[in-house]
Amino acid sequence: MNHFEYREQTMHCEGVPLPLIAAAVGTPFYAYSAATLTRHFQAIDQAFNDIPHVTCFAAKSCSNIAILNLFGHLGGGADIVSGGELFRALSAGIDPKKIVYSGVGKSPEELRYALKSGILMFNVESLQELATLQQVAAALDLVAPVALRINPDVDPKTHAYISTGLAKNKFGLPLEQAAAIYAEAQAMSHIEVMGVSCHIGSQLTTVAPFVESINKVIAFVKRLATDGITIKYLDMGGGLGICYDQEEPPLPAEYAAALKKALAGVPGCTLIIEPGRVIVGNAGILVTKVLYTKSGAKQFIIVDAGMNDLARPSLYGAYHGIQAVVQSDRGEVVADLVGPICETGDFLAKERALPVSETGDLLAVMSAGAYGFSMSSNYNSRPRVPEVLVRGDEFFVIRKRETFADLIHGESIPE
Ligand code: LLP
Repeated sequence: MNHFEYREQTMHCEGVPLPLIAAAVGTPFYAYSAATLTRHFQAIDQAFNDIPHVTCFAAKSCSNIAILNLFGHLGGGADIVSGGELFRALSAGIDPKKIVYSGVGKSPEELRYALKSGILMFNVESLQELATLQQVAAALDLVAPVALRINPDVDPKTHAYISTGLAKNKFGLPLEQAAAIYAEAQAMSHIEVMGVSCHIGSQLTTVAPFVESINKVIAFVKRLATDGITIKYLDMGGGLGICYDQEEPPLPAEYAAALKKALAGVPGCTLIIEPGRVIVGNAGILVTKVLYTKSGAKQFIIVDAGMNDLARPSLYGAYHGIQAVVQSDRGEVVADLVGPICETGDFLAKERALPVSETGDLLAVMSAGAYGFSMSSNYNSRPRVPEVLVRGDEFFVIRKRETFADLIHGESIPE
C-alpha cells in the first residue's frame, strides 16, 4: 500500500491533489509521501526490534536532507558511499555513530573527513584501502573502526549492473583472502577491527541469496573467532526489492526472519542493515506534463521529463508504472513515453498501454522514489527538478527547481 490514491478521479499524495503541487512548483517534480516513508522505514526497522540492530538507510537511493532527517528522527542511521553523502547525512542531523561508509574507492580526503566525523564503521574493500586508512588515522592520531567487506560469490539474480556479490564484481574481498587481511588489520596500530560487511546486490526478489550469503559470512565470523578476532557488527547491506510491476518480493518480516535465524549462530553480534529502495522506492513519484503527441510508424507521447530526470528506464530497461494524474474515459493507446533529451535511449516507457493523452495532461511515473532524483543530472543543460515532501494536507518544497544560473554556477571563461 502507498499513499498515492485517486480521489474523485484525481491522484493525491496523501491529502494533496497532485495538480495543486504542479500549479505551485511547475513540472516535472518529484513528490514523496512522508507517511509512506515513515511506514516503510518502520516496517523494516521494527522487523528487527527483538535483536540489537542499526538501520542505516542507504543514502544513495534518495539523499535529500529532509528525507535523511525524517529517518534520523525515526532512529535511523545512514549508509554512505562518498564524502558528499557524509556531508548530507551530517547536515540532516544523522548521528555519526550510526553512519557506515561503504564503497570501493574512498579517497584519502574522504577517509580523513569520515574519521574526524567519528562514524561508526568503515566498510573496507581492499588491502590498499586498509593501509591508506591506517596512515590517515595515524596522522590524525585517531583509531579507525573497520569492517572488511566480503564478496561471498553469491548470485543475487538481479540486473547485471546492480549485482555486487559475485566474484567477478569489483566489490569486496574474496573470502579466501579475507582471513589474512583481518590478521593484518588486527595488527595495525590505528585500526580497530569491529565487523564484517557484505552487500550482494539490489532489487532482490527472493530471500535465498540473502540466506546463502549470511550463512557464508557467519561461517567466516566463527572462523575469525578461532583466530582470536572478535566481530561486534555484522553488516548485511541492503538489497531487498520492491514491486515495480509484477514482482513479488519477500515481506520485511520474511526477510528479517531469514536473517535472524542465521544470526542466532553468532550471539552478541549487532546487525547492521542498509536498506534503500525498499523504504523509498514506492514512497516517491515523478510527475511530468505532456508536451506533444505524434504518430507515424509508432505512437509517441512526449513529456517534459527525460532520462536526465529519471535514468532507470534508459540505464537498466527498468519498468515504472505510468498513470494519468487525472483519470479520463479516453482509454489507452500503445505508445512510447519519451522525454525531450536528444537521444533515442531517452524513454520512460516503451510500447506500453498508456492513457490516451493530450497536451497539458499530467502523468505520474510511479515507484520513482529510489534512485530517481538521486541519479538525475543536468544533461542537455536541463535544470534539475524540485523535490516535494507531502505530509497530510501540507506540502513542502524540500529542493527548489534549479535555475539557468545554477547550470553555469562555478564555470568561468579564461581571459
Ligand atoms: N549498501 C550498499 C553497499 C549498496 O551498494 C547499496 C546499493 C545499498 C546498500 C542499498 O541497496 P538497496 O536496498 O537500495 O537495494 N541505481 C540502481 C541501484 C544501485 C544500487 C547500488 N547499491 C537502480 O536504480 O536500480
